[in-house]
Amino acid sequence: MSQGDQTEKSNAPIGIFDSGIGGLTILKALITALPHEHFIYVADGARAPYGSKDSETVRRYALEITDFLLDRGVKIIVVACTTASSVAADAVRLRAGRIPVFEVITQGTKAVFDVLPSELKCLNEDGEPPRAARFALLGTTLTVKSGVYRKSISEHARRLYLQEPVFTELSCPLFVSLVDDGVWNGPLADSTAKRYLSEIRAFHPDVVILGCTHYPVLSESIGKAVGPEVQLIDSAFNIARTVKTTLHRDRMLRESTVEGSLTFYSSDAPDAFREHAERFLDTAIDMVHHVELESLEKV
Ligand code: DGL
Repeated sequence: MSQGDQTEKSNAPIGIFDSGIGGLTILKALITALPHEHFIYVADGARAPYGSKDSETVRRYALEITDFLLDRGVKIIVVACTTASSVAADAVRLRAGRIPVFEVITQGTKAVFDVLPSELKCLNEDGEPPRAARFALLGTTLTVKSGVYRKSISEHARRLYLQEPVFTELSCPLFVSLVDDGVWNGPLADSTAKRYLSEIRAFHPDVVILGCTHYPVLSESIGKAVGPEVQLIDSAFNIARTVKTTLHRDRMLRESTVEGSLTFYSSDAPDAFREHAERFLDTAIDMVHHVELESLEKV
């Protein structure tokens, strides 16, 4: 590749998508890790929630957005939606071809084992293996039904020669509505979390996996509901670190000391999305473009 081609490639934006504002939890971590990169974010609010749809439908949505991002010349794609990651990651990879694709489940799995206390990962003083870790996965209905996160965690535990983890899974559909409506804390968020999570608290997990990118926005209420002793884990930090390492390794980091741009597309009302995105990212956003994703459908 010529120097010019390399520069053009490294200047290309990073594409990222979610059904709504949940993926902003990933975007925020990416901006912190990679402030000089350009980002294009697609929020498919018009067709949210993804979590209550069937896997075929979510796969089709994810591929439409992938095509949209590829048409904009992105250098990598981040699937910042756990539901899409659980049912469409392979399809997105296939469609993206040579463009690297990152999804949140592999990165979330690594994050879980990063935070697991060492007494649950190492032999004890008497040389005995640790007890099985207890994980609670909170996700959308489709993520839980797919079983992909659970499988990813089990396989990782096996690779570390750990016992099969004790697992419980729960879908919390109202969390997505709350977050997309801007209810991120306060009495309504607290009471919804308490209602959903009483059985999780009783399960006494070592780690609660926030297996939907919307859920970290509610971490204050979720934390109160499951108890202060429980670790809440999401994939944002790990995915940002992995993307940075990959861009560096492949010499695709944008070489500039000037902050990169943020371009937003929403399939739903752009103003509502802009308001939430400005609040969450704590930055002014000039404009959110409206996009009709259905019209892009390729069979
Ligand atoms: N943020 C999403 C996820 O991580 C999607 C939630 C939804 O649309 O149901 O699963």
